[in-house]
Amino acid sequence: MSKFLQLNNISKTFETSKKLKVIKNLSFIFKKGKTYSLMGPSGSGKSTLLNIISLIDQPTNGYIKFNTHQINYENKEDNDQFRAKKIGIVYQQNNLLPDFTSLENIYLASLSINNNKDLAISKAKQLLKKVGLFSRADHYPSQLSGGEAQRVAIARAIINDPEIILADEPTGSLDMKTAKIIFNLLKDQKRSDRLIIFATHNRFFGKKADCLLEMKDGIIKSSNG
Ligand SMILES: Nc1ncnc2c1ncn2[C@@H]1O[C@H](COP(=O)(O)OP(=O)(O)O)[C@@H](O)[C@H]1O
Ligand SMILES: [Mg+2]
Repeated sequence: MSKFLQLNNISKTFETSKKLKVIKNLSFIFKKGKTYSLMGPSGSGKSTLLNIISLIDQPTNGYIKFNTHQINYENKEDNDQFRAKKIGIVYQQNNLLPDFTSLENIYLASLSINNNKDLAISKAKQLLKKVGLFSRADHYPSQLSGGEAQRVAIARAIINDPEIILADEPTGSLDMKTAKIIFNLLKDQKRSDRLIIFATHNRFFGKKADCLLEMKDGIIKSSNG
């Protein structure tokens, strides 16, 4: 159980006009019950790594294992289901669906793995209360502040009770006061059976993780845990 997420000799090369090796033979084991922050300069590969862990992108070489389950990139549908069920993702700019309300954005994530609409709606309402936004249930994303949108994004990320939460600079577009509220809400999602990884530019937040990882030149340079 302790070797929850294993990255084994992962490389990622982007083929543009010339080859760009962004992740270089990276091996790392993430444990459940812990929070990890991913820090490093712009362009150091943080988002690329998170996209590989979320199975949105695939490594050029190497493999990923969740417990004993090694990801096979041929099985795209299985991997999509795996992501929907087990991984909650929060981005820097809420990528909420613009034509759907807060409530709909949250419960649609539940419907993607379960057909029970009444249950999905009731869970989404509870989550809106939990993040303090019940009064914004009928607001569209354009009618939310940046902080409110991130609260909806967090509610959406946790509706399926994921084993992993990935957040890519979740507070990057917020003022410090709002950023602290959103960061704490994210940190409060820590549980013994859940792994949380977030990328941040903010060392104050980065240091609050159980384990701070510095990315540089495509590898993890240092870690404190
Ligand atoms: N789809 C892509 N095609 C080509 N190059 C990319 C692509 N995505 C990212 N890159 C490059 O990979 C490097 C790492 O990007 P990224 O992972 O977004 O860094 P970070 O999130 O740490 O700022 C950057 O130099 C970026 O230009
Ligand atoms: Mg990034």
